[in-house]
Amino acid sequence: MKPLSSLKTVILIAALIFSGLAYAHSGAKGVIKQRMDAMSDIAKNMKIIGAMMKNGEFNALTLSASALNIQNHANQISEQFPTDSLEMPSEALPAIWVEWDDFIKIADKLGNDAGKLAGIATSSMDQNEVKTQFQLAAKSCSGCHEKFRLKK
Ligand code: HEC
Repeated sequence: MKPLSSLKTVILIAALIFSGLAYAHSGAKGVIKQRMDAMSDIAKNMKIIGAMMKNGEFNALTLSASALNIQNHANQISEQFPTDSLEMPSEALPAIWVEWDDFIKIADKLGNDAGKLAGIATSSMDQNEVKTQFQLAAKSCSGCHEKFRLKK
């Protein structure tokens, strides 16, 4: 058998890595899969904005697209947590339905802060404002996870 060409090897390895990613949520179904995917997408967009601030290359279009994406996801949180939807492999905690108002308040705050971030992108695009607003949005992630998501 011929040894694999290096290109083939690279493709093979890439395929393995990506299938690993795709199946990280295997087992998750329905609304639980939906919200896990949504959260992953939120995280992806936070990373895009974070990277932009880190390397100082501010781009209004990228910022506004990512911020609006986060806002959209945040607005759907109230529909993605039907009562007691805790099937494996969900990391949601029952506290969500005990303290629903608080849970939704944090989701709304994230939507609000992400919307403001998009607003900055289409107005001043002031880098300090972006940073402050980004940090406010990030606080909602940890604030909500702290109370409502299983710790690893
Ligand atoms: C209102 C509450 C709330 C807010 C706000 C929130 N999260 Fe989550 N997040 C959760 C819950 C609950 C889970 C667990 C969902 C499940 O496993 O069913 C979760 C799961 C996740 C996951 C894991 C998804 C997976 O693949 O299992 C990531 C990543 C994540 N959140 C990122 C973020 C980031 C980044 C932000 C802020 C921009 C954020 N979240 C804001 C409640 C929230």
